Amino acid sequence: MAARSSFLIVANRLPVDRSLQPDGTASWRRSPGGLVTAIAPVMQRRHGAWLGWHGAPDEELGPFEQDGMNLIPVPLSEQEVQLYYEGFSNATLWPLYHDVVAPPVFERHMWDAYRKVNERFADAAAEAADEGAVVWVQDYQLQLVPAMLRKRRPDLRIGFFLHIPFPPVELFWRLPWRTELVEGLLGADLVGFQRPGGASNFIRLCRRLLGLSYKGNEVYTGDGRSVTAQAFPISVDFSELDNLVREPHIVQRAKEIRSDLGDPEHVLLGVDRLDYTKGIGQRLEAFGELLAEGRLNASEAVFIQIATPSRERVEEYRRLRDDIELQVGRINGEHSMLGHQPIQYFHQSYDREELAALYLAADVMVVTPLRDGMNLVAKEYVACHNDLRGALVLSEFAGAADELRQSYLVNPYDVEGLKRTMLAAMRATPHEVARRMRTMRRRVSTYDVDRWASEFLTALES
Ligand code: ADP
Ligand code: G6P
Repeated sequence: MAARSSFLIVANRLPVDRSLQPDGTASWRRSPGGLVTAIAPVMQRRHGAWLGWHGAPDEELGPFEQDGMNLIPVPLSEQEVQLYYEGFSNATLWPLYHDVVAPPVFERHMWDAYRKVNERFADAAAEAADEGAVVWVQDYQLQLVPAMLRKRRPDLRIGFFLHIPFPPVELFWRLPWRTELVEGLLGADLVGFQRPGGASNFIRLCRRLLGLSYKGNEVYTGDGRSVTAQAFPISVDFSELDNLVREPHIVQRAKEIRSDLGDPEHVLLGVDRLDYTKGIGQRLEAFGELLAEGRLNASEAVFIQIATPSRERVEEYRRLRDDIELQVGRINGEHSMLGHQPIQYFHQSYDREELAALYLAADVMVVTPLRDGMNLVAKEYVACHNDLRGALVLSEFAGAADELRQSYLVNPYDVEGLKRTMLAAMRATPHEVARRMRTMRRRVSTYDVDRWASEFLTALES
């Protein structure tokens, strides 16, 4: 058993993902998504341990150390992966919390598995936490853990942060297990949300569902405790990216990328997990129509879309992949010329250096989620442009829109508006682009991920 820790992160995923090949060999790679991007640097700078699933089913592993972090794997069986992870977490909660942009599945056996796996995480955390430790539980996969853990270990200071949006009461109300989920969260001392709207949705729910009283952002649980619900907008490791893009080899790589593309006038970029909340289809539709209408010439612009594989066994994700690939094929089929394709599509994951070079190479970053808790890609793009070049087209429905007001804000459901905004971003003067980027950089460099973590932990410990 690993030594007990005074600071624990509890998340569904560890920062590294183990993939098992059919021949039995295993390899590690960085886990996908914004949670890992944000928590990994926080963890590397603090002593503590990170408890989570290592990404492979039916495999028990002991604690290990990686990149300066103490990692404690929590096992999941193949059936739990299907019912708890792909099922309740990603086919029920994920679409429900993202404005029902896909229909949520309500299945009792998925709920049973969710509860059982949450118990396992609570047991593992109770065992790994030192007397009076701070335990920080992350995200929608583990909403029952705070109350389960408090029952086992009332001595702990328990925080919870939700990385995705917290839905309006009317949507949450549909959940057959709504009471259990809210009671689960109320086991924490502090519940953090990306936006103030999420915190107020939660407080309203505590009142309507459980009849609890509140004052400001404090909810009184009725047993003498109070729980704070507050917004803490998450961010990126600004200085890591800012330093990375100053490296000559990254600058050189960005130039190479542009020249490999034929040095077009406009390089547009999308970087996402392949998820139906990200509005990838909407942005490609807008780009395709601009070409079809002759408002943009296929020889002057290239759209690079990088879509990391994600949750590939969940039906909606499989369908999305087919839809996007069909759409890319159609647009390229109509507008390609020998040696030049207007959309460069990659269903791949890239390392941080290549990603930084891509951000640096792009004139216009197109971030168009239909709903997103924050969207770190938007902030990463800003962090990579110390050259003050680069325009950000950003959905009003991303949490990042609260802070990045100088981006080119769009409603991704409005294809005409999206087309106009993408053109405006492409045609803006360098002076205008620099003015906007300078202000956005000031914001992201001030509110970086360290500030996010220290504000949350200070509030938790006070
Ligand atoms: P989400 O957490 O929903 O995936 P975010 O935009 O908040 O969305 O975070 C995504 C994270 O994953 C970012 O740090 C981004 O750099 C990373 N990422 C996204 N796509 C890729 C990719 N193709 N290769 C490598 N990293 C990626
Ligand atoms: C989002 C979620 C995270 C999740 C990540 C990647 O960022 O908020 O909790 O880890 O997506 O998704 P995955 O299902 O691969 O863990």
